Amino acid sequence: MTSPTRQLRDDLVGRGLVEGLPAAFLAGITRFGRPPQAELDALTAEVTALAGRLSAGTADDGDLPLLTRALYLGGHADLLAGRGVLSPMYDVLGGFRDNLARPLGPRLAERPVTARRWRLLGRTIGFPIGIPACVLNGSEAWVRHNVANGWNVLTYKTVRGRAHPPNEQPNWAFAARETASLAPGAPADVVADPWDWVEPGSSTVSSVNSFGVPSPEPEEWMADLARAVAAVGDEQLLLVSVMGEGEDLAADFARTALMAQEAGAAVVELNLSCPNTLSAAGVKPPLCLDPDATVAVVEHVRRALDDRTGLVAKLSWLDERQLAALVPRLAPLVDGIAGINTVQSRVRRSDGTPTFPGRELAGLSGIAVRDPALDFTRRLVALRDAGGVHFDVLAMGGVTDPASFEALFVAGAGAVQSAAGAFADPLLAQKCTIELGETL
Ligand SMILES: Cc1cc2nc3c(=O)[nH]c(=O)nc-3n(C[C@H](O)[C@H](O)[C@H](O)COP(=O)(O)O)c2cc1C
Repeated sequence: MTSPTRQLRDDLVGRGLVEGLPAAFLAGITRFGRPPQAELDALTAEVTALAGRLSAGTADDGDLPLLTRALYLGGHADLLAGRGVLSPMYDVLGGFRDNLARPLGPRLAERPVTARRWRLLGRTIGFPIGIPACVLNGSEAWVRHNVANGWNVLTYKTVRGRAHPPNEQPNWAFAARETASLAPGAPADVVADPWDWVEPGSSTVSSVNSFGVPSPEPEEWMADLARAVAAVGDEQLLLVSVMGEGEDLAADFARTALMAQEAGAAVVELNLSCPNTLSAAGVKPPLCLDPDATVAVVEHVRRALDDRTGLVAKLSWLDERQLAALVPRLAPLVDGIAGINTVQSRVRRSDGTPTFPGRELAGLSGIAVRDPALDFTRRLVALRDAGGVHFDVLAMGGVTDPASFEALFVAGAGAVQSAAGAFADPLLAQKCTIELGETL
């Protein structure tokens, strides 16, 4: 069988791209700032040498990691996908709009399936793994791509009741130094450079993001959402995340939730936990830290929606007192509680300047939030069991491999979702399904 490196080499030669690879890589890696000169020189020399081996036909599979990085940063991730080679699933160099119609990463020829079925939010679904509300579920194209790769519980990215632009780029970066979990509740001070890199498929991935909840205008997302709803089958559940804004927050949440319902959403998720909302005073704390405002929003939305539409509240990591105060008030109103959202953190480059210019605070996720997510899920399940009112738990935070998936499921989640893990490994659902599909 031909090796992936040889296949990629043939593609590159065929398209006349070998010579330009070092320059394309350099343009990509310096897109949002310059790494220290010595590091940049060393990397460029490595990619130049690789281009030489590709020309000479001597590149082998030992070159695949560097070739993957060079192709991804050089704007040729489509070639990697075409040969079934893992790459990050989203193009962090491209804008939010550019990415909406263009999921990256390989697509399986056959969707992973199991004979067993699971119950979630009153529906029957396939293996209970999914991708939460984030840019990896920003449009019908992403939903189709993810379904094909075995992700069954998909939350359409948070949309708003009016168009909203993304924060200025960069919006998303690997946090390559964060390779272990923080303790629950520990304040996070993260160093992440926009050119940081984590090997695709890594189970120790963390990332930081500052998108600011961009949204197309309702007319556009409602039409796209209706197509996405039609694209999912019996084994999947598509939830839709919405967020309100403005003076009358609860009314705007309800108005937006009604739009999602009208477009065909069977379950609406309320983003009560965004760590990236900008105000005149800077980045705001997540709404769920204010229990009265949170309950007012959820009550308002529950009254507005049809009884048949499911309702999920998405929370951030909350401490014992905060969660114990909120859950009994939410439980009678919702069908599910989701969490955790990214952990709002101070994020700087290695030179001390903000990773995301103008925004000191951003959302940390991936393995760095694994223990906080497990801690939150266990307490949430305990509160549910003690309270006697049933709701399903959608758990997420730090799921990057089958063991971290299983830990949240065993803690009592009805489904488990992964954002940073899916970003680094678009085929993570397949891995989990193969390893746990018969025994979970
Ligand atoms: C790039 C990115 C964008 C996100 N956007 C949203 C969003 O629009 N709405 C939302 O509720 N959560 C959003 N999240 C949070 C995720 O849904 C999830 O709660 C969090 O990332 C923790 O999971 P993880 O550790 O698997 O990344 C986003 C996360 C990432 C990484």
